[in-house]
Amino acid sequence: MATPRSDRSAPSSPRSDLPSGRPAGRFSAAPIDVDRARSETPGCAHVAHLNHAGCSLAPQPVLDAQADWLAAEAITGGYELAADRADDRAATYDEVASLIGARPDEIAVVENATFAWHQAFWSLDLQPGDRVLTADVEYATGFVSMLQARRRLGVHIEVIPDDEHGQVSVEALARRLDDDRAGPVGLVALTHAPTNGGLVNPAEEVGRLTRAAGVPYLLDACQSVGQMPVDVAEIGCDLLSTTGRKYLRGPRGTGFLYVRRELGQRLQPPFLDLHAATWVAPDRYEMRPDARRFENWETNFAGKIGLGVAIDYARAWGMAAIWDRVRALASRLRAELEEIPGVTVRDIGAEQCGIVTFTADGIEARQVKQALAARSINVTTSTVASTRFDMEARGLHEIVRASVHYYNDEAEITRFCESVRLIGL
Ligand SMILES: Cc1ncc(COP(=O)(O)O)c(C=O)c1O
Repeated sequence: MATPRSDRSAPSSPRSDLPSGRPAGRFSAAPIDVDRARSETPGCAHVAHLNHAGCSLAPQPVLDAQADWLAAEAITGGYELAADRADDRAATYDEVASLIGARPDEIAVVENATFAWHQAFWSLDLQPGDRVLTADVEYATGFVSMLQARRRLGVHIEVIPDDEHGQVSVEALARRLDDDRAGPVGLVALTHAPTNGGLVNPAEEVGRLTRAAGVPYLLDACQSVGQMPVDVAEIGCDLLSTTGRKYLRGPRGTGFLYVRRELGQRLQPPFLDLHAATWVAPDRYEMRPDARRFENWETNFAGKIGLGVAIDYARAWGMAAIWDRVRALASRLRAELEEIPGVTVRDIGAEQCGIVTFTADGIEARQVKQALAARSINVTTSTVASTRFDMEARGLHEIVRASVHYYNDEAEITRFCESVRLIGL
C-alpha cells in the first residue's frame, strides 16, 4: 500500500512529495492501520467523532497543506504564490480525476456540493414539458431547485417509487424512461447515499438505463464519495457533484463537479465569469473548453490544495479498504444499537453505508445529540425538511445520525452504545 503522506517529512510545498506514479491505493484492500490513522488525526484525542456525514476530522497532512499554503501566501502574495505553485493546483484536478475514474479536464473544483449540483442542473437546456425523474430520498436542496424549475421552466417532476428494500426501483425507472407518451425525459437526478440514513441507491443500474435511453444523469454523491469506491465510468453518470469536508476529510468550503467531456462541451453554465469564459469581442465571449467553465475565478486556494491532499491521503489507504472498514463498523454499530431497549435503527436499503440512523422512544433526537455531546461524542440529527418524501413515508420527523469512518475504533462504538443506553435511564 502507498504510504499516507503524513509518514513523510513535512514538505516545503504541500505537493512536493507526491509519488510520481499513482498509488496502488484505490485498488488496495489491505486492512486499515487504525492506530496509525488515529494518530494522524489530532481530533481523535478529544472527541469520539461520529459525524462524518456532516464534516470529518481532518488528518494532519490536510491541515499541514493548508497551513503551509496560507503561510506562504502571507509572505509571497496570493496571486504570486498561485502562479509559482500552478503545478500544485493542477495536482488537485489529477487527484479528483483519479479518485472517480475521470479525466482532469472533466473536473471543476468549487466551493461545495450544492454549487456543483446547481451549476450542473441549471446548465441543462430543460424545456417546458420535459420530465425530471428523481427518487424518494432526494436532498431538499436539489428538490427545491426542481420545484423552482417547474415554476420557471414548466418541467414536470416525477418521483420514482422505491422497491421493497427502500432503494429507488430500477424497474419503475425503466418503465418511466420507456413511457414516450408522457413526454421527453430531460434529466434523471439521483442521490447516491442520502443525508438521512445508510441507504445506497443502485447508481450503476440507474446508469445502465440512462445510457440506453440517452438521458442525462446527475448523481448527487455528496455522502458517498470518500467512503466507498465511486467510478463515473462504472456508474455511467454524466454529471456528479460532491463535497470535500465529509467522507473525503478535506477542508470545508470545497467540493467538485464531474462533467462528462462530450456533454460538458455542449453545456452553458448558468454563471459565467472571466475564468469560465473569455470576452473576445465587444459582443462575444468564448467559454473554456474544459469543465472549469463551471468554476469561477476567485476561490479558496488553500482549501483547493487541501482537497487534493485529502484525496491523495484517502487513496493511499485505499478506497476498497476504507469501504470494507466503514461497512464493518456501521454493521457493528447497528447490531449493538438494536440490542438497546427503546432504540430503533432506521436505516433502509439492500446495501448500507457508514451512515447509521436511529430513534429512541420518548426522547427527542436533539436531546440524544446533546446528551452525547456532553460525553464528547459527536453526532447530528436529520429532520423531515431535508428528505421530506422518505421521512414522511416512514412517519419520521427527526432522527439521530451517527456516521462512522475508517479511523473510528471499536472502543468508540462500545462507548457510544453505552452512552445511548444511559440516556433517559
Ligand atoms: C445528499 C446531500 N446532497 C447535497 C448536500 C449539500 O452539500 P454541501 O453542504 O457541501 O453543499 C448534502 C449536505 O449535507 C447532502 O447530504
